[in-house]
Amino acid sequence: MFKVHPVASDRLPQLLRAMPKAELHIHIEGSLEPEMIFALAQRNGVALPYASVEALRAAYAFTDLQSFLDIYYAGASVLLKEQDFYDMAWAYFEKAKADNVVRAELFFDPQTHTARGVSMETVITGLRRACTDAGTKLGISADLILCFLRHLSEDDAFATLEQALPFRDRFIGVGLDSSEVGHPPEKFTRVFGRCRELGLHLVAHAGEEGPPAYIWSALDLLKVQRIDHGVQSARDPALMARLAKERIPLTVCPLSNQKLCVFPDLKDHNLRQLLDAGLCVTINSDDPAYFGGYINDNFLQTFAALHLSTQDAWTLAHNSLQASFAPESEQRRWVHALKETFERFVEHD
Ligand code: HPA
Ligand code: ZN
Repeated sequence: MFKVHPVASDRLPQLLRAMPKAELHIHIEGSLEPEMIFALAQRNGVALPYASVEALRAAYAFTDLQSFLDIYYAGASVLLKEQDFYDMAWAYFEKAKADNVVRAELFFDPQTHTARGVSMETVITGLRRACTDAGTKLGISADLILCFLRHLSEDDAFATLEQALPFRDRFIGVGLDSSEVGHPPEKFTRVFGRCRELGLHLVAHAGEEGPPAYIWSALDLLKVQRIDHGVQSARDPALMARLAKERIPLTVCPLSNQKLCVFPDLKDHNLRQLLDAGLCVTINSDDPAYFGGYINDNFLQTFAALHLSTQDAWTLAHNSLQASFAPESEQRRWVHALKETFERFVEHD
């Protein structure tokens, strides 16, 4: 492990903001800010059940995952045209740039859109164009991960995969999201097997609200390479040992966990316990427009609540770069930049 010199506690927030990092758990539809929801609704002539931006924001008082998902899917209903998908992703990339994100792997939920008559081509083309521009105009390496909605059937997931295959070169992997409890990973074993044959990267939400058993089955049956959330693994010592030994990355989203009442107080979040057990933990934003902060807000608030150190900052940023699906040559370049950032802060301390 790279030993870092601690920086003064009043300079730690600045270091957290400055360090190059990868965002591996962001639902692009969850980056849709209320202002953009209203602007797109007007542009597309979509009626919203909220009178104003303020009224919509006031509805963001969630009690659990489902209470959030209901509003999140309603918000996504304003997305109709290729340009809408581009504009949404571009707005995210501008925020990511300000947070020194060098690599972003964006989840998207095509079933939310195809069910409303929007074509797969419209969704993927708009998002992919924004990813390309993120690379050329902002220097952010970006790729797409198609998520299957787990409250729908495996047949529906297979049909979605079929629709996406003409655009196989425009996304790098598949994931599994939406309502977790009652929809275990094993419901999707066959479709994930097919995606594996196609050479796609595999990830799945597991252990956000659901039990450790869902993390076991995501690993053993779906054969995922990363676990999204995974915070419930702390309830199972054997699982913790396995995650540490195999260095399976967890894409943890602290502000999401707080807002969805998984850990109602950030001070009670188990991220430090996961780190101390040697797991490959990363910090991410999940649905930043809904949960009150982008990736740097997640870093800053978590570090303040859990009294994390400069060493933890290094570990979390380094983990994120290494856990990404970017080529190793790119990862090495970012790790080098990470070292330079830490050295700059120590020198001036
Ligand atoms: N969990 C499951 N599904 C989701 C989430 C989440 O945190 N965000 C968007 N879809
Ligand atoms: Zn998520």
